Amino acid sequence: MWENFFDKPKKNYNPYMGKMKEFPKYIQWDKKEMNLKKGNWNEFFENSNEIYLEIGSGQGNFTVGNAQRHRDRNFIGIELKFKRLYMSAQKANKRSLKNITFIRRWGQEILEFIGEEEITGLYINFPDPWDGNEKNRIINDKLFYETLSKILKDNGKLFFKTDHDGYYNDVLELMKRIEGFKVVYNTNDLHNDPLGKDNIKTEFEELFTRKGITTKYIEICKEKTLDKK
Ligand SMILES: C[S@@+](CC[C@H](N)C(=O)[O-])C[C@H]1O[C@@H](n2cnc3c(N)ncnc32)[C@H](O)[C@@H]1O
Repeated sequence: MWENFFDKPKKNYNPYMGKMKEFPKYIQWDKKEMNLKKGNWNEFFENSNEIYLEIGSGQGNFTVGNAQRHRDRNFIGIELKFKRLYMSAQKANKRSLKNITFIRRWGQEILEFIGEEEITGLYINFPDPWDGNEKNRIINDKLFYETLSKILKDNGKLFFKTDHDGYYNDVLELMKRIEGFKVVYNTNDLHNDPLGKDNIKTEFEELFTRKGITTKYIEICKEKTLDKK
């Protein structure tokens, strides 16, 4: 199993790495098997429903909540940490959800396992703002031009939540020069916004809310490609 995560064997492994095997349906880690599903995720879910992704799904509260609420949609949570994946799978299993799976993979590798226009929506909730090293942020030009332009359907959306004023303002600024995408909704206080009533809180959102920090939210839509046949 280690070959999927490390270049060479280690002396000690995170116990949750092995425990992930308890939920084969809810956690996937084999890169080759995952890559074979590229463009065919609907076969995995055994339906033709729309597919939504979350990058950095943490302990799974958001994507499990979404899957529970929207039984007619499929959800894939992408996360790196073994324990968080295990906890997510436990939650999905407890609710016997059939429309959700979690994968252990770097979000940046998405094009290796997600096909063209396979996705209706991508959620990125409370990503690391990389203060002082902003070039490392996951939301950048590359995400739009190299990834979302390919994997999102026309009119598909990116949904972004953050506690960080700088990240929020920088994404709004970035969108002024990104072609083919437009901001369709934004608020710097989601919980006091009409849209907030349907909001599902993430684990980090719970923490920040308790500290009195507001949740900032941006919804970005991929415009229909005009030169498409
Ligand atoms: C700040 S936490 C936020 C977790 C969750 N979205 C929330 O709001 O509670 C960021 C999460 O993203 C995961 N993560 C960070 N970089 C990632 C990457 N490149 N690909 C996939 N997951 C990543 C981390 O392991 C962590 O669980």
